Amino acid sequence: MLDQRILPGEVLYLDFNSAEEVAAAIRDMVIRGAPAIGAAAAYGLAVELRQSDSDDLELLSEKYGKADEVLRASRPTAVNLFWALDRVSNRVNDTTFTTAQELKDFVLAEAHLIAKEDVEICRQIGLNALELIPKQATAVHHCNTGGLATVGYGTALGVIRTAHENGHDISVLVDETRPRLQGARLTAWELKQLGIKHKLIVDGASGFYMKQGQVDFCVVGCDRVAANGDTANKIGTYNLALAAYAHGIPFYVAGPTSTIDLSTASGDDIEIEERTDTEVLLVGEERIAPEGTEVGNPAFDVTAAKYISAIITEKGIVYPPFVENLKALFD
Ligand code: MRU
Repeated sequence: MLDQRILPGEVLYLDFNSAEEVAAAIRDMVIRGAPAIGAAAAYGLAVELRQSDSDDLELLSEKYGKADEVLRASRPTAVNLFWALDRVSNRVNDTTFTTAQELKDFVLAEAHLIAKEDVEICRQIGLNALELIPKQATAVHHCNTGGLATVGYGTALGVIRTAHENGHDISVLVDETRPRLQGARLTAWELKQLGIKHKLIVDGASGFYMKQGQVDFCVVGCDRVAANGDTANKIGTYNLALAAYAHGIPFYVAGPTSTIDLSTASGDDIEIEERTDTEVLLVGEERIAPEGTEVGNPAFDVTAAKYISAIITEKGIVYPPFVENLKALFD
């Protein structure tokens, strides 16, 4: 895995050889972003099995069960983690294996498939979004939803990327995205490499640019979309959506259908991860608040469906009313 904690300063690839190690990498955010977490979890199962030289199928199945449990406990909010683990185990359960090697090969092949499909899905999301994106536009983007957050192309950033590749003149206002600075560190790094115009702004500045008439649309990713369209995404997304709503600016959510969780009725039912206080108290090594300061650090928030103009998926663009239209997407 490319270590996303130290980008853009250092490009370092790390190796992980067990489900426990992969789960820790997800928890510590070596890898992050909902689709990337899902693919990583599938590979976590594969490396765990591969590490065992036992020929005993029963023993390996037991190992599989434990690996699945450890990976499930890594981060709670992005549904792609659970989606990927469910997908692999459903397919494993539907298949008869006669040797341990068959099971190992099957799980690895499924992880490869999830990874390959993710790239195709992201490209399709970008193409589907084209009709929404003006020929010349400035977008606000929150967090990082690019190649780093997926397997290779990106969701919300993929929308921007496809528009750019199709000749649209796109500029991006990049929310820095406190406290982990995914916007400043990762999105700016990706946009620079893609040659897409961008300007880094502090999270609180988007309203200012909207008021100045300088924003045409917002596009963000998602960690879990509930059946009613309420969407969990990186903390600060809700504030951005409110500002866009107040200014009459379209607010788009982009994500694969694997991020849509019809079993969760509304945003109130989504578990929001609370992370450690040092993420807020420290900027790099430097402490920015007095000793003893109490901290709140929810990693995500929920944007109510009424503030979302459309949800862009690989199967098409979903407009309100979301309850009916999200369901129809799966029917
Ligand atoms: O805490 P993170 O960095 O994993 O949060 C990432 C986000 O909130 C992304 O917007 C979301 O996962 C979509 S990534 C395509």
